[in-house]
Amino acid sequence: MTSAVRRPVPTDSFPTSTSNTQAETEKVLLEHLPAADKNAAATLHKNAHMQFLVRNMVQGFPARYSSQDASQPWLMYWTLHAFSILQVGLDPGNKQRAIDTIMAWQHPDGGFGGGPKQAPHLLPTYAAVSALAIAGRPGEGGGWDQIDRPKMYDFFMSLKQPDGSFLVARHSEVDVRGIYCLLVTATLLDIITPELVAGTAAFVASCQTYEGGFSSASQPYYGPPSSTTAPPTLLQSPRPALGEAHGGYTFCALASWVMLQPFLPSPSSPSQPKINRKSLVRWLVQMQGAPVELGGFKGRTNKLVDGCYSWWVGGAFALLESLGINSASVAPISVEKDGQTETDTDWDDIDDSLMNRKALQEYILYAGQHPVGGLRDKPPKNADAYHTLYCLAGLSSAQHKVVPSPTRQAELLDCWTVDDGVDGGLRKRILAHALSYSEEEGTETIVGGPPNRVNATHPLFNLTITHTEAIMAHFYGQVVPP
Ligand code: FPP
Ligand code: ZN
Repeated sequence: MTSAVRRPVPTDSFPTSTSNTQAETEKVLLEHLPAADKNAAATLHKNAHMQFLVRNMVQGFPARYSSQDASQPWLMYWTLHAFSILQVGLDPGNKQRAIDTIMAWQHPDGGFGGGPKQAPHLLPTYAAVSALAIAGRPGEGGGWDQIDRPKMYDFFMSLKQPDGSFLVARHSEVDVRGIYCLLVTATLLDIITPELVAGTAAFVASCQTYEGGFSSASQPYYGPPSSTTAPPTLLQSPRPALGEAHGGYTFCALASWVMLQPFLPSPSSPSQPKINRKSLVRWLVQMQGAPVELGGFKGRTNKLVDGCYSWWVGGAFALLESLGINSASVAPISVEKDGQTETDTDWDDIDDSLMNRKALQEYILYAGQHPVGGLRDKPPKNADAYHTLYCLAGLSSAQHKVVPSPTRQAELLDCWTVDDGVDGGLRKRILAHALSYSEEEGTETIVGGPPNRVNATHPLFNLTITHTEAIMAHFYGQVVPP
């Protein structure tokens, strides 16, 4: 979208703490815009960020991370994938150290906990398996073959609820973040089945709010139990979304929706759950902040921009492409000009994306980088491991357009041999669906020039395409004919 249709954040004569913090944030951000020769200053400080990651990985995380004791797999995944996005490979010694550390988090009853001997939970399970996709390998001691997949499946099934959702852990809450984590893990490890995901797409669809984005869950609707021993009866729709639309939940819901496509009946079937695409697109584009040169994303209406939403919201645009939604399929925008309604015809003068890829990169480069390394929410905050990964992943999604390619999908279906068992081609379809992503030729947009280029990351899994392909090829018993 171009500046022609971007309006300043509206203000009125009724200041509130929200409008004041918005104004203060815009002021601080503008101070980070270089006064002259913008391109010269648009440098990604790769070396400083690498040093930041190496310090955490080799010397250990500083004491302020002690509150994240139950998030050890996350710290590992954020660090390893940030290295991958920066095009840095680990040496075999550090890889092995990572594998051994991760495997100590596996729970004897299946799944991974947030640290050794911690209870299994869907979120650290996803982070641990993603970290293994990067550092692990097949065979003895390589991690991949030491994941207890049958127990992991039982653990997942034990969390399943009658409405298709999942608890994030035993005795815990339902949350679309958990659903995303479960679906990624099950897809990568080839343990995703129709039984596991029955009803899940309808649950995900029910989390869409009136704004268009998704919230964490929807209202459980149970009828009164018919007896004291019988389970409560699940009532059908409407099941209103519970809580506020948020970028983090929206990414998780949309990526889940895309991963569930191979399990859905045809779109014309009356039993096909539906999401409101139009309100989703409208909400997503409204999350990109002003001013135009610092177009970071916010996570929810009337809140502040933050570097991590570069991935959670910025990354969601690539997922729209997976559903066939792009600027060509969205009606041109009409703008009011001098009392006349005009159709904006030059909204694709930068590129044909629904988000402003250039402005997102500028936010990350000018405001997201901490001067001594690592990336952050916004100035003057410190850098941390979480924002370092999600700013870099957002930068990657703004530089590269990685979209499902029908040619690549046909190729995969044609040449990759998978034993389909009794599922009538389902495993092959899941694999082809997940691996059909490739970079659209000629669409790289690299603000600051080629030295700022980072690796592309998979829009669904947030792993490099190479890591995704390798782990899936292993678990799906992939045979590529010579
Ligand atoms: C609000 O924080 C944050 C949330 C309500 C949840 C955010 C969810 C994610 C970032 C997704 C995580 C994904 C996985 C896979 C675990 P806040 O009030 O501090 O921030 P805000 O003002 O920006 O909303
Ligand atoms: Zn953040």
